[in-house]
Amino acid sequence: MRLALSTGGGDAPGLNAVIRAAVLSACARGWTVLGIKHGYAGLLGDDEIVSLTPASVRGIGHLGGTILGAASRGNPFAYPRRRPDGGVELIDRSEELIARVRELSIDAIVSIGGDGSLTLAQRLFERGLNIVGVPKTIDNDVGGTITFGFDTAVSTAIEAIDKLHTTAESHDRVIVMEVMGRQAGFIALHAGFGGTADVILIPEIPYGIDKVCAKIAERDRAGRHFSIVVAAEGAYPVGGSPSTIGAPPPGQPERLGGVADRLAHEIQSRTGKECRSLVLGHLQRGGAPTGFDRILATRFGGAAVRAVDERRWGEMVALPGQGLATIPIAEALRAPKRVDLADDIVRTARETGISFGD
Ligand code: F6P
Repeated sequence: MRLALSTGGGDAPGLNAVIRAAVLSACARGWTVLGIKHGYAGLLGDDEIVSLTPASVRGIGHLGGTILGAASRGNPFAYPRRRPDGGVELIDRSEELIARVRELSIDAIVSIGGDGSLTLAQRLFERGLNIVGVPKTIDNDVGGTITFGFDTAVSTAIEAIDKLHTTAESHDRVIVMEVMGRQAGFIALHAGFGGTADVILIPEIPYGIDKVCAKIAERDRAGRHFSIVVAAEGAYPVGGSPSTIGAPPPGQPERLGGVADRLAHEIQSRTGKECRSLVLGHLQRGGAPTGFDRILATRFGGAAVRAVDERRWGEMVALPGQGLATIPIAEALRAPKRVDLADDIVRTARETGISFGD
């Protein structure tokens, strides 16, 4: 088996842990592993194809970013090409990509990405490539699973909220913090919830500025003269639309941003309170993955190789989230929980070279 790995879209903490686990699990099966640099650019002559061995993934599991490089602009079906007049046009290079995959005798591709990369993976699968997906995004907006990178982004955002709290309280200010997430409010919701923000604004619930200001005024009356507002970059007012930054490059989605500044101005003019805004930005995507993300990413890497082994083309590894429930205490006591030796964590641990001494 000649397996190729690709990391497309924006980076997310945990990518290197997926790569490491996939390479170790694949090499343990005697497979050859290749890394496609910068999304699919390595297959289109704009970057390289590298060999991945246990030595090349040594010591990377705890590192942020991706050793393969990320690519937000690497759609082979609409690939940017500079025209002689300096402009950019989008051309379909998918045939060329598929021909290159055949030429390199690549048997399967593990595509690690968010909805953009997974959409490409689906299209390439429909064109006959053997692809398995691994969901990745700090936004946590891929259907049917939780994604690695999200926990790290939320932890970073909560740490920022903690710091904003002390300065906001000292100055009796309102501070509005904007977090990422595109059209999903998961980062804002979880960070605001964990950081005990006073107002959380998410795209799924269009906000009323009067309601936001009423909450701040109510706190003021209660002697709490500061407030923290966490706004998802995609949050927008009832009847309005999300704030965006400039015109997107050809073939790219619009960039969201600016809602915190907009809110800070509106809140200040309506309440008379001094307001400040902060865009947390790419700090949320950087740095080392949390323990949770490392574990999830490593599980995904190992599971992706098993999916390739089982020829599950067109499928994606997933960990569906679970809703909260209540169970009888007696049930909890009846069967104390122990490690299930058939669990994917135990399997991937073994496949990536960890000994249990047995
Ligand atoms: O999808 C991940 C994400 O970080 C979004 O939350 C954000 O809108 C976007 O990527 C930013 O992308 P870029 O790296 O192009 O600025």
